[in-house]
Amino acid sequence: MPAASLAAPSKQVFDVRPFDGQVGAEIVGLDLSYPLDDADFRRVHQAHLDYHVVVFRDQRITPEQQIAFSRRFGVLQIHVLKQFLLPGHPEILIVSNIVENGAPVGLGDAGKYWHSDLSYKALPSLGSMLHAQELPSEGGDTLFADMHRAWDTLPKHLQAAIEGRQAVHSYTARYSEGKDAANWRPTLTPEQLAQVVTVAHPVVRIHPENGRKALFVSEGFTTHIVGLPEDESRDLLAQLYAHSVQPDNLYRHVWQPHDMVFWDNRSLIHLATGCPNHLRRKLYRTTIQGDAPY
Ligand code: OGA
Ligand code: MN
Repeated sequence: MPAASLAAPSKQVFDVRPFDGQVGAEIVGLDLSYPLDDADFRRVHQAHLDYHVVVFRDQRITPEQQIAFSRRFGVLQIHVLKQFLLPGHPEILIVSNIVENGAPVGLGDAGKYWHSDLSYKALPSLGSMLHAQELPSEGGDTLFADMHRAWDTLPKHLQAAIEGRQAVHSYTARYSEGKDAANWRPTLTPEQLAQVVTVAHPVVRIHPENGRKALFVSEGFTTHIVGLPEDESRDLLAQLYAHSVQPDNLYRHVWQPHDMVFWDNRSLIHLATGCPNHLRRKLYRTTIQGDAPY
């Protein structure tokens, strides 16, 4: 495998091929083990903005190469669950259901509810990359929902009800929920809890790079809409969630070996559909910091 610092032997020729639906494109012919030149980087960046999730098949890359590629897009965020960071590479969060010697090797139930990564931070994530390490023989797909389209197609009375409002996001609200969450989720230390205090963000945000509005609430981390009675907030959020994840608003990623998938957390929410727990699944995640939502 070439070192990350070597230039590609010749100029890489690649295509951006949009999928059939609203969301997603495959980038064909690019080997991410080589650093991208500026023109290629601009094309990948533009494809990411246009399609919100880009898929690179069969990437035989090292953690160092994933980190180097991720850093082209911004500062990397280190996940609060230190126990699941790749040893020697804290920029990589291990997402896995594998238990070794009685201890989970990674975050086992990442993405069990629809969410945008790190929306509970003051500076949520711009985008995340997942690189497949081990895949189950069944299940384990990842779903993505287009939150620009969710906003654009939202009935006018719902648009009017949320425009200008803020919602609170919390990492801990659903942290230990669910029947097997307790097995997967280590107890947070006081130091970890201090890193995940709740924040409020606009319910409708403007994407800082494409200028489009997007819904920015999700069942994973949003607890309530500020300034509304509890039942009204719950009812409104339920309507927004149901609207966001209608089938024609989705892209389903069916993982292939060595896939690298890079999505935009400002444009999409995503969900792990899960797989039987006796089947091993392991992916490496890097998470790029974004701006404060407005
Ligand atoms: C994540 C995530 C979904 C999946 O790693 O951020 O939500 O299918 N993963 O593993
Ligand atoms: Mn996620």
